[in-house]
Amino acid sequence: MKPPQSDAAKRTLGLWKQSARSARLHTAIRWWTAPFEALETEVPRSGKILEVGCGHGMLATFLALSSVDRTVVGVDIDAQKIELAQESVRHLRQGEATISFEYRPSGEILTIEGGWDAIVFADVLYLVAPEDRSRLLSDCIAALAPGGRLIVKEVNTEPRIKALVAQFQEFLATKVLRITDGDALDFPSAADIETLISSGGLTTRVGRIDKGYFHPHCVVVGTKAST
Ligand SMILES: C[S@@+](CC[C@H](N)C(=O)[O-])C[C@H]1O[C@@H](n2cnc3c(N)ncnc32)[C@H](O)[C@@H]1O
Repeated sequence: MKPPQSDAAKRTLGLWKQSARSARLHTAIRWWTAPFEALETEVPRSGKILEVGCGHGMLATFLALSSVDRTVVGVDIDAQKIELAQESVRHLRQGEATISFEYRPSGEILTIEGGWDAIVFADVLYLVAPEDRSRLLSDCIAALAPGGRLIVKEVNTEPRIKALVAQFQEFLATKVLRITDGDALDFPSAADIETLISSGGLTTRVGRIDKGYFHPHCVVVGTKAST
């Protein structure tokens, strides 16, 4: 568990200060338990960035606040979360960050002229049915600009005990409390994700970003060829 450390991190959480208690609590817990500051270092400092499954939009907002040279769009299948995300960034000052949020149905990847410089997933793939993941990721790869990065953060399936605790929490969130939407509940390993991304033709790298966290957070970064 880690508190927000950088100014951008503190500012991101501060945007939720005036929100309802449930949203404030959710965003604070999410921040303390997810390695967003380590994940941010994997994202290009400039360019057009898409976050798929942005939820309340904290990571997307943090990416935009960390570098004014990033233009960030967050999308999610949960229209209520998108509304909350949109509300939170209304508190930003003019020119402080370039960020927007949109609802998108499952499996529909937003495309832009010239392609995205990076597409980011943070704890989303376990909510996508295994048989749909390959198409979703290949649509993302097609939507990347030459040289663009596909960055997928998940909770790894090992060490086993840590992974089981994390998986139980996600079971509660999706099936019991129903605070997270998704088509499935199936936890891919870092190796599974790497196989999917490399079979799409990207050069891949896997990293652990779990130092100081109870959950075995991992990231898989795939880079598309420049030409
Ligand atoms: C655990 S939350 C993570 C939210 C955010 N990425 C973060 O790190 O705080 C998972 C999010 O994925 C979204 N989601 C689930 N299936 C999705 C899909 N097929 N496409 C896009 N978003 C999806 C859910 O609505 C939820 O907001």
